[in-house]
Amino acid sequence: MLPGRPAKGRAGPTATVEDLLRYGYFDDEQREYVIDRPDTPLPWINYLGTDAYFGIVSNTAGGYSFYRDAKLRRLTRYRYNNAPLDVGGRYVYVRDDATGDYWSPSWQPTPERELDGYECRHGLSYTKIGSARNGIRAETLYFAPLGETLEVWRVRVTNERAESAEVSLFSAIEFCLWDAQDDSTNFQRNYSIGQVEVVDGVIYHKTEYRERRDHFAYFACSEPLAGFDTQRESFLGAYRGWDRPAVVEAGAAKDSVAHGWQPVGSHHVRLALAPGETREVIFVLGYAENPKDDKFDPPGSQTVNKTRVRPVIERWLRSETVEKGYADLRAYWDGLLGGLRVTTPDGDTDRMVNIWNAYQCLVTFNMSRSASGYESGIGRGMGFRDSNQDLLGFVHILPERARERILDIAATQKADGGAYHQYQPLTKRGNNDIGDGFNDDPLWLILGVAAYLKETGDLAFLDEPVPFDNQPGSEAPLYEHLRRSLRYTLDRLGPHGLPLIGRADWNDCLNLNCFSDTPGEPFQTTENASGGVAESVFIAGLFVLAAKELAGIAALLGQDGEEVVYRAAAEKMAGTVTEHGWDGAWFRRAYDFHGNVIGSGENDEGQIFIEPQGMCVLGGVGLEDGLAARALDSVAERLATPHGIVLQQPAYSGYRIELGEISSYPPGYKENAGIFCHTNPWIMIAETMVGNGDRAFDYYRRLNPSARETISEVHRCEPYVYAQMIAGKDAPTHGEAKNSWLTGTAAWNFVAVTQWILGIRPDFGGLRIDPVLPGGWPGFEAVRSFRGATYEISVRGTGRVTHLLVDGERVEGNLIPPAASGAVVRVEAVATA
Ligand code: GLC
Ligand code: GLC
Repeated sequence: MLPGRPAKGRAGPTATVEDLLRYGYFDDEQREYVIDRPDTPLPWINYLGTDAYFGIVSNTAGGYSFYRDAKLRRLTRYRYNNAPLDVGGRYVYVRDDATGDYWSPSWQPTPERELDGYECRHGLSYTKIGSARNGIRAETLYFAPLGETLEVWRVRVTNERAESAEVSLFSAIEFCLWDAQDDSTNFQRNYSIGQVEVVDGVIYHKTEYRERRDHFAYFACSEPLAGFDTQRESFLGAYRGWDRPAVVEAGAAKDSVAHGWQPVGSHHVRLALAPGETREVIFVLGYAENPKDDKFDPPGSQTVNKTRVRPVIERWLRSETVEKGYADLRAYWDGLLGGLRVTTPDGDTDRMVNIWNAYQCLVTFNMSRSASGYESGIGRGMGFRDSNQDLLGFVHILPERARERILDIAATQKADGGAYHQYQPLTKRGNNDIGDGFNDDPLWLILGVAAYLKETGDLAFLDEPVPFDNQPGSEAPLYEHLRRSLRYTLDRLGPHGLPLIGRADWNDCLNLNCFSDTPGEPFQTTENASGGVAESVFIAGLFVLAAKELAGIAALLGQDGEEVVYRAAAEKMAGTVTEHGWDGAWFRRAYDFHGNVIGSGENDEGQIFIEPQGMCVLGGVGLEDGLAARALDSVAERLATPHGIVLQQPAYSGYRIELGEISSYPPGYKENAGIFCHTNPWIMIAETMVGNGDRAFDYYRRLNPSARETISEVHRCEPYVYAQMIAGKDAPTHGEAKNSWLTGTAAWNFVAVTQWILGIRPDFGGLRIDPVLPGGWPGFEAVRSFRGATYEISVRGTGRVTHLLVDGERVEGNLIPPAASGAVVRVEAVATA
């Protein structure tokens, strides 16, 4: 039998097949996902931290922590792509001192030890993992308290035996020497530089503190220690792994002090437990900085000055502080998630909208694409395109943070309207290694700003002075940045009048100017061939959408002349799409370097792509002449699968130098006909725009992680968050998800379901109630904060809303005029078929 099985209440004689395919269940009351067997198909992770100190934590306590930047300020080590997966974590070992039996209550890193009642509860910014063995129960709560740069492990050990027990508890982490990339490559140096201090039972990790770093890490324990260890080889023993540390086996720490090699942190605590007794032991792992001129104590020594950090440590080792910190964290999430709550006939929708999708949007905002089970924390900076889209999913929760983020992004824009593809979170400077030339990038800024304005009505934002390329003196009002974004496209049109694609558009892997034949050469940055005419129908659709948004913004500012110009530009581009971007039954994808069509019935592979079908319709192209509906039918016929909509068909069977990275992937994966989930909500939205609520919602459910929970065995990723990709129908693993957590899928699904299917949509002039529901729904209820007021919304029926009752007063149309801040407004929408 698998350790951890059978699970309580599930795998008994009444268990259904679906139960057996699951690895846990949702506890909506607690807003937790409860994993009740540890051997999930992949590590199922969660995030700790809300502001500056962050970590990832898996259901078996794997993961790592960092301060602000996952690459440059990594506190603990983690080994990606190891066997088994998920090595390195926040480990606790329990040892029965009478018998010498030892185990980890989180299953890893001692998977050979059978556990009773294993349970992991992933909550909002905290995780609890517990289990029992031979009558000793241990549960650890991990969280990073608000406003601090530390994490707490609160371990509770209970003796469930009839007689007293003597147990040892060992903590274990491995320190990272700060720069995660250097740490995993530069061994000739790093094996000699590791340094620690152990003072009053606190382990201080101070590698490079002696020279240019003014920061250090600390690891403390609330109990008197029986011993400690800080040298990995002493703790584990030579040639032994985390599954059987020599110190734990022997039941005695060695008080080792690391000099070079691999510094670790381990405390040893002995507990004598009466029958039924529970003891609490708190561990605190944190990050601290000292002023440069006050680093050492006494001055002139090499000893870390601990005067500032000591009170913090003392405070967080107290049980009352931890209780309050945990309660505060939960209250913080209550506050954040209170801004939009829905009650619909579909439990999976409610659960995702009210809890998990909103949570994922905020995590994605905090992490961008840096640290997950698939993002190693050393790779990608903040994407210009990605960051603008991520904010669509949380602007209603933290508008001030969205505002800041937009200003950071806009300040990296170049004077010609172009955009660095990425910028670095610590410096906030555009990243020269990747550079610019992804020709869709600038347009996303318009969508990001429009979303912020619709949510907040904060028109003054447009006057905010923002530099170009972070050059002091180059400041121009934010509005001017938007103008230049649009101009950037218009300055770069190809022979059909469609926008030139540059290095790539939204699809980073459609590299039409690249022609790479050198193994390993990065497709995104390699020198592009000149003289080509590759054009993107996707950017054309995006341009139409962005130009209309900018026209709306111009109208708000009373810039009527500009409004007319932008509307005309949108019209003209829409006409160009209809003329040169329509293939007879769907929108074409692009024209290549030589002017040959891509995404057409004329092609042998890659005949139809999802992106232009979604984006052209979002821009409103084809809504009046039926092309939109026709294109969406083609999507349904050719691209939709039970697991979601694939990116294109037929998949490319071999490498095509003229297309680039897209054809580098085996068929069915990633951009080569994978279900690239980010794009699916565009189709959902497009379906609502043509009035097809059934199809929109059907697509929504195919992707909804909670709805897929019953096929966890197939899906394999976490059932509480979206993944970037699900293997397409050409892949042998069709239906298997990858790259969970950090993806534009989170924001776009949130937008699709809340703003278009449920139809609660902020607009420049107020809050719109424009649901396009699946047939058979009696309606739904929602509570939405908007510009300081609270709207209690009740929708009846499934047709289109033609009028509202706002506090009993009839309002024609579907737009609620903004109410006074603080008001509670009752809105009834009657949808007639
Ligand atoms: C990744 C990138 C995103 C891009 C997408 C499609 O998700 O982060 O910027 O649009 O892939 O290539
Ligand atoms: C790869 C991925 C793509 C991602 C890009 C980021 O090309 O396939 O999804 O957008 O890397 O640079």
